[in-house]
Amino acid sequence: LATTAPVVVAPAMHTEMWRHPATQQNMRVLRARGVHVVGPADGPLTGGDSGPGRMSEPDEIANAALAVVSGAEGGRARDLAGLRVVVSAGGTREPLDPVRFLGNRSSGRQGVALAVAAADRGAEVTLVAAHIDGEVLGGVGDGVKVVSVGTALEMQDAVTEAASAADVVVMAAAVADYRPAEVAKAKLTKEAQGDRLTLELVENPDIVAGLAAGRLSGQTVVAFAAETSSGDELLERARRKRERKDVDLLVVNEVGWARGFESADNEVVVIDRSGEVAAEASGSKREVAEAVWDAVVATRR
Ligand code: CTP
Repeated sequence: LATTAPVVVAPAMHTEMWRHPATQQNMRVLRARGVHVVGPADGPLTGGDSGPGRMSEPDEIANAALAVVSGAEGGRARDLAGLRVVVSAGGTREPLDPVRFLGNRSSGRQGVALAVAAADRGAEVTLVAAHIDGEVLGGVGDGVKVVSVGTALEMQDAVTEAASAADVVVMAAAVADYRPAEVAKAKLTKEAQGDRLTLELVENPDIVAGLAAGRLSGQTVVAFAAETSSGDELLERARRKRERKDVDLLVVNEVGWARGFESADNEVVVIDRSGEVAAEASGSKREVAEAVWDAVVATRR
C-alpha cells in the first residue's frame, strides 16, 4: 500500500477460491485502482486438481513487469493506440417462450481475450457481450466498455451503433442464424403440444455482412467462423465465407463437441482478402487474440 511503483500481481490459488465472488470482486477493485494482473493460468494445481488458478509462468510475469515499466503492457507495442475497436463476444439467445431459448455453446472467452488484448495495445474498446459468464467477463479491466445484449437483433443494434464510430469491428460472437418466428406469451406446455413440437424459425440478419456492406472508409471488419470440417475443405469453406460476407479477415477454427468451446486454448487460421492464409495461431485464447490483432495491424497497413 505504501509503494508508489506500479504494481503487478500474479494470483495463484485453488480454483474454488479464484472463482469465489469475494475474490472476483477484489480483483475488480484492484484493476480499478490500476493494479496490473497476470493470470492465473488454467492447468494443473498443487492439490492434484486442475483448473484456473495456476500461477502464470515466471517468464510471463517477468515480461508483464518489464512491459509495465516500459509502458507497453503484455510486452507488446501499443500499436492500436488511437483506434476505436468493437468486439462482439458470447452467444445470443433467442427466446421461445418466457422461460426457454435457443442458444449455443460459445463461452465468450475468445472475444474477451480479444477485447483485453486490444485495450492493452492501446485501443479504445467496446465489448458487446451476449450471455457471458460473470467469471469470464470479470477478466475485462476498466479499459473496456461493456454493452450487454441478449438476442441477435439486440446485438445488431448495439454493434451497429458502436461500429458507427469504430476503426475496427471484430465479430467473435456466435450469433443465432435463426430465431423463433413467434415468441409464445405463455410457457409452452406438454398438455397443449402433445408428443411432438414443431418450431418455425425465421432468419436473423447477418450482422457482420451488413457491417461490411456499409463499412466506413478505412474501417476493418473481421468475422469468425467455427467449422466442423477440416483440412482443405475447411479452408475452401472459409474462403467462400470470407467472400460471401465481404469481410477483410476471417478467423476460422475447427470445432466439435469436445473441441473449441469452453476451453482455455484455441487454434485458428486467418484468411485475408486474397484468400491466402494471413496467419495461423494456436495456444491460449490470449495468444490467439494477439495473432488476430497482428493480422489486423498488417492488413490496415
Ligand atoms: N454472424 C453475424 N450475424 C449472424 C450470424 C453470424 O454477424 N446472423 C457472424 C458471426 O459473428 C461470425 C460469422 O458471422 O463472425 C459466422 O458466420 P457463420 O454463422 O459461420 O456463417 P453463415 O453465413 O451463417 O454460414 P453457415 O452456413 O456456415 O452457418
